[in-house]
Amino acid sequence: MSLGSDDLQTSLLQHATPDVTLRRSGSCAVAEWITSVKARLRSSKNLRSKLIALVILVVVTVILIMYTCLSCGGGTQCAGICSFSSLKPMKLKADDEVTCNSTEKAFIGKNPAKRLPQAIIFGVRKAGTRALLEFLGLHPDIVVNVVEQHFFSNDVNYSKGLEYYREQMSASYEQQITIEKTPKYFIDIMAPERIYRMNHSVKLILILRDPVVRLVSAYAQLVAKNKENNITYPPLEEMVLDENGDVNLDYKLVQVSVYYKHIIHWLEFFDLHQIHIVDGDKLITDPYYEIYEAEKFLGVGHKIQRDIFFFNKTKGFYCVRQCTSSTSPPCLGETKGRQHPPVDKKLVEKLRNFFEDKNEKFFQLIHRSFNWTTLIV
Ligand code: A3P
Repeated sequence: MSLGSDDLQTSLLQHATPDVTLRRSGSCAVAEWITSVKARLRSSKNLRSKLIALVILVVVTVILIMYTCLSCGGGTQCAGICSFSSLKPMKLKADDEVTCNSTEKAFIGKNPAKRLPQAIIFGVRKAGTRALLEFLGLHPDIVVNVVEQHFFSNDVNYSKGLEYYREQMSASYEQQITIEKTPKYFIDIMAPERIYRMNHSVKLILILRDPVVRLVSAYAQLVAKNKENNITYPPLEEMVLDENGDVNLDYKLVQVSVYYKHIIHWLEFFDLHQIHIVDGDKLITDPYYEIYEAEKFLGVGHKIQRDIFFFNKTKGFYCVRQCTSSTSPPCLGETKGRQHPPVDKKLVEKLRNFFEDKNEKFFQLIHRSFNWTTLIV
């Protein structure tokens, strides 16, 4: 490790003070000026000049309030008089357009810096990791790292050190938290210990989906990727069953879905309360609920409102209403929400039976259970 996380944070904690000082001294000067205007107002005998002074006083007070609110950026620091902007209900402009006062990332006068992530989405692949990251990125106090870093799961990347890793992060302001997501971490044997060494109190987020549905989703991805190279990927049955007709544990997609085997390694290093589990199936049907729960876990305050999500019939998934200032598309790309191939009912049953006891073991480890028996594959 080239630089410990504590060292990094200490060195990066030195930005706000001059700015705050400046703002305070500016406020004092204006306050003194207001007092002198008031005094003049009292002493003046002329009604017209009293009125003019009164108007100026009102205008300056409004400007002062606006300046203070803009400076606090709408983030968690905003309180009292400024909170009206974040609490105001959003007025929809069009079906997919919204004025996102409460979710706009406007921070004035504070130095952005690249920071190590305080939270990591560490899996599971094809459970909705991208949707989760994108949705959390709507929060004004969250900065997401769009590119999967594969830092803790790749020896070459890891050997470059934490300073390299920090450099890969998007810049954030002091009051924001940075989130990285690399689904591969979940199944990587080295990742838990390496992440622990970076920051033993890091917040970990794991999104899960019915293991059978997840497997089919991963399979559909492989079929699509091979098709891009004009390669026909073998049928699911051929891949997922061995020559005796049993579920093939050597097949990578099966291995990934055996969740208990992976979580064991994480629980060696982290307490369960440090790991927030997102129900990926529920994220599809009710993104607001899962994002609200994640906001609570991250301690960022509730800012992502229900009406920012809308169900897009064409996509078949929830998408995000555009902020008037936003340039990003409302729905996830075509690689998310693919059509799954039809899977024979008997195969689904076989897979469900195979995963039943493995899921039970997982539920015991995480002290929570999911109904993974009814979903359509
Ligand atoms: P499918 O493409 O099989 O439907 P990941 O981002 O981890 O690769 O997960 C991809 C899965 O996210 C998709 O699998 C899809 O079901 C799920 N997902 C959840 N919410 C989504 C959303 N709002 N839009 C698109 N896909 C979403």
